[in-house]
Formats: sequence, structure tokens, C-alpha cells
Amino acid sequence: MSFRDTTKTKGKNMSLRGTDLQAQSKTWKMLRVILPAALLLAACTAATAYLPKKATKLVASMRANASLAPTVSAVDPGPRALPASAGSFLSTLSANEQQIEPSLTTEFNRTHDVIVTSPTDGGLGPRFNENSCASCHAYPAVGGSSPPTNPLFSIYNFNGASNTMPSFITSNGPILEARFINQPGTTIPDGTVHQLFTIKGRSDAGSCSISQPDFATAASQGNLALRQVPPTYGDGLIEVIRNLDIVSNMNSNQTIKASLGISGHPIYSGNDGSIQRFGWKAQVRSTLLMAGNQMNVEMGVTNEIFPNEIDQTPGCVLNPVPETVTNFNPNILTEMFPGDAERAEHFTQWLAPPTPGPSNNSTKNGKTQFTNAGCVYCHTTSFTTPATSRPALGNITINLYSDLLVHHMGPGLADGLAQGSAGPDEFRTAPLWGIGQRLWFMHDGRTNNIVTAIEDHYSLGNGSYPASEANQSITNFNNLSPKNQQDLVNFLRQL
Ligand code: HEC
Ligand code: HEC
Repeated sequence: MSFRDTTKTKGKNMSLRGTDLQAQSKTWKMLRVILPAALLLAACTAATAYLPKKATKLVASMRANASLAPTVSAVDPGPRALPASAGSFLSTLSANEQQIEPSLTTEFNRTHDVIVTSPTDGGLGPRFNENSCASCHAYPAVGGSSPPTNPLFSIYNFNGASNTMPSFITSNGPILEARFINQPGTTIPDGTVHQLFTIKGRSDAGSCSISQPDFATAASQGNLALRQVPPTYGDGLIEVIRNLDIVSNMNSNQTIKASLGISGHPIYSGNDGSIQRFGWKAQVRSTLLMAGNQMNVEMGVTNEIFPNEIDQTPGCVLNPVPETVTNFNPNILTEMFPGDAERAEHFTQWLAPPTPGPSNNSTKNGKTQFTNAGCVYCHTTSFTTPATSRPALGNITINLYSDLLVHHMGPGLADGLAQGSAGPDEFRTAPLWGIGQRLWFMHDGRTNNIVTAIEDHYSLGNGSYPASEANQSITNFNNLSPKNQQDLVNFLRQL
């Protein structure tokens, strides 16, 4: 069977979502703790009967995994304290580029209201998740991920807006954006973002009257795929890595990857055939495309890259589109040229990678254990950027800890949503730089504990999805000595 075909797997995905999924992972956790190895082996052999044919070659390693009753003693020391080890611009920027920095920062921080009154403001809605790039990409510094206190609570009723807060958004939890797996009430695949809020009721929204999506029904039907905010630090450098370097890294260490059950593949752009690298499923090729997409999808601000309102209900399109455009006044080059989306893009493109904290004996050994456990065969330590037309981005070795490929991650992480050629159980290897100061982990921000994030890589196959490619590596981690486990976790929190 194909793991990329949502229409085929859809029915079964549903049973894996929501509370079933949690119950499933709870069961696994209990098994790990209380059952002797022999019983686990028996359970796994029984589970084998339900595996699709394609997954049977994975069974051998699953048996091996299951027979090793894992114990995890490592404790997450928690995020490294502020000040932020990220958020500054690349030190290699030219004098001209540095001169433009402040206007890029202003752009990324800009809050949008509905009505456009100057070439740079306005455009919010009619549907939106937030009103500025920086409110989502906030921590540990502007450009990053969700902050400790959820900013969605200051926006949903702002300026008279009549929104209710969806149940999956909590005041001390991560900002999440919501996609529907299927179009509501149908079995037709959807996959698009359904913005949390509308401008209805706001004093600047005229008579616009549209309703929020029915998230309660979507949640009860297991029709939601949630995503948290990834950081944007170093994205300009990720963008210029050559396709052939990604492929040659994929083809390296084949014997050892095969022995661990690790494969992975690039996601090629339908536009120019190059390898996509942004978004949790590597669904976007460039920071410019992402910025234009984010501006419209997250804020509803139409722009030169995505020029149409997503919801065109009469009475709700309150500005001519696109709402932000390049201002061709030659006297204001540094302030308003080019358009907002392009300046927000340059902000993320020019942000330097996070700086790791100080290393010590524990983190040094942890790095060795990261290799020993096999984490490094997905979380590739580094790539070197080629010479580029923008010298600031060229010939830099970056320690991103990602192979920029997508991998089958098992039913435990699968979100039921195929995107491009990334299947419903496939995700891009998340870059680990800056993870030392991160508050939530995995695509749906399901945990704030980095040890749980590691354990959540593990899941056995079922009738819908093959086992996680990370199973052997996680088993290796679980079988490290308590000290080596802890050193590995300390290493991650040093990044
Ligand atoms: C409502 C919160 C929110 C707002 C506002 C927001 N983003 Fe994002 N951003 C996200 C989420 C969620 C993703 C992941 C999307 C996905 O994978 O589907 C993301 C992904 C990105 C990425 C790709 C990061 C990576 O490494 O994969 C970039 C770049 C980015 N956003 C830039 C921006 C810019 C520029 C703006 C403002 C124009 C912006 N974002 C506004 C939530 C937000
Ligand atoms: C088969 C490839 C693979 C292997 C092996 C692997 N990972 Fe991952 N890792 C991923 C993917 C894919 C994600 C993103 C999962 C998601 O989005 O839900 C991830 C996410 C993470 C995250 C959370 C990152 C974030 O931004 O939320 C951490 C921490 C992490 N991995 C650590 C490890 C460690 C430690 C090991 C070894 C013990 C390891 N990984 C082995 C593929 C892998």
C-alpha cells in the first residue's frame, strides 16, 4: 500500500488521532516500565500480523527493539536561561545590508490592523492567526519560536473581535496553527490551514460577518493536524545549501543507516525541481516563498507573492489587493523598498544561527553519544554553504543538525496529512540548533520535555504506517548507561 495516499489511509488515520493516540502512547509507556522483555516480544510478534506487506522488512529490527526493555533515567535540565543565544544578524553582512537591518526588524515586528492607511500597515484578515510575525516567532528572541505565555490570548478579542478560543490553545502552551485533514463533513482531503480567528466584531472590520471554523467538531472527529512555530534562525544559510550536498549526505554511511533502519528522502519542488527545506514537512523551497505565505496565511495580509485574500466573502475584503506592494518611490529606498513580505523575508534570511552555550565534559561526551546512538544519521551535524551572489551567506559551515530529508516517523507522530510528496507519517528532520533554549518540541508542540521528545520518536508500525525509522536509534539511546544518556541530553540543551 502507499503511505502517501491520504484517501487510502484516511479511515485508519482517524482511529489514531486524539485520545486514541494518547492512549496508545500511554500504553507503550506502561509496557516499557512494567512488562518483562519476553512479554513485549510476544506482543510485538502479535502486532506483526497487522503490518502491511511493505513494512515486514522492518519487523526484524522491531523485534530487536522490543526485546530490549528500555529504561530512561535522563532528566531534562530545562531550557538554558536567557539572555538569548540567538536573534542577531549574520556578522558577515555588508555595510549596505547592515544599514537596512533596522527596517527589516521593524517589518518583522510590525502589528497589522485591518485597514491599510499607509504602504506598510494594515491588511489583517479577514481570517488570521496573529497580527505580527514577531508575536509567533518570539522566543528566545525575535525570529524564534513560541514564547512562554501564549500571545494568542491578547489577540483573539482585541479591538472588539468576537472570537472564542479553540480548546487546543492554552495560555501557557505553544502557539499552534490548525489544518484540517479532510474537508469538514467529507472524505475529500483538505490539508490547508484553517485560521483560528476572524476580524468579525473588530471596530475596523466594517460589517464583515464570517464565523470561525468549527474546531470543536474537527477535534472530536480527529480531523485536526496541529503545528507549532519553528524558529527561523539561520534559514538564509539553510536556503543556499546545494541540492547535491543534501543528496550526497543522504547517500553517505549507507551500511550503518540500513542497520539502523534509517532511509529518508528529499522533497523536490514542483517548480524548479530543487530540494525543499522549510516547514515541518519540507513543503516550501525558499524563505521568500515562506514569508509571502506566512504573511497571507498567518495574518491575512495579501502581498506580491500570494496576492489574493484567502476568504473573499463580500463585505470582508476591505482593502484593494495585494495589501502590501513594493513602493517605487526612489527617495525611500531603505524604508519601504521592496514590499513588506520581501523585507520580512530578508529579516529571516539574514538571522545568524543560534550560538551554543559553553561546552563541558558532560556535553562533550554527550556529543559522542549522539553519534553512538545513531541520532546523527538523521540529525546531520553540518553542511557548508557554497559561494553565493550574497557573500554574507557563502562558504559558511553551519551546525544545523538536520539532513533536510523527511523520514517515516511511525503512527505515534503521524498527523494523517500528506503534503506535497511528504506522507502523513513523514516529517523533515528538525534542525536541533538552538534547541537548548526551546520551550516546546515536535511538530505539534506536544511536549516541553526534551527527554519525552526523544522517546516520542519511537513507535511500532500498524496497519496504516510502518514503524518509525528512528526506533533503533532511540533503543540505542535507552540502552546507554545513565551517565551517557544524561550527557546526551545535556549536549542537546547546550545547543
Ligand atoms: C500564527 C503564528 C505565526 C505567524 C504570525 C508567523 N509565523 Fe512563520 N511559522 C509559523 C508556523 C506554524 C510555521 C510552520 C509552518 C508549517 O510547517 O506548516 C512557520 C514557519 C515559518 C518559516 C519556516 C521556518 C523553517 O525553518 O521551517 C519562516 C521562514 C517563517 N515562518 C517566517 C515568517 C514570517 C516572515 C512571518 C511574518 C510575515 C511569519 N513567519 C509569521 C507560525 C507563524
Ligand atoms: C529517523 C531519523 C531520526 C533519528 C534517528 C532521530 N531523529 Fe530526532 N527528529 C527527527 C524528526 C523527523 C523530527 C521532527 C519530528 C516532528 O516534527 O514531530 C525530530 C525531532 C527531534 C527533536 C525535537 C526538535 C524540535 O524542533 O521539536 C529532538 C530534541 C530530537 N529529534 C533529538 C533526537 C535524538 C537525541 C536522537 C537520537 C537518540 C534522534 N533525535 C534521532 C528525525 C530523527
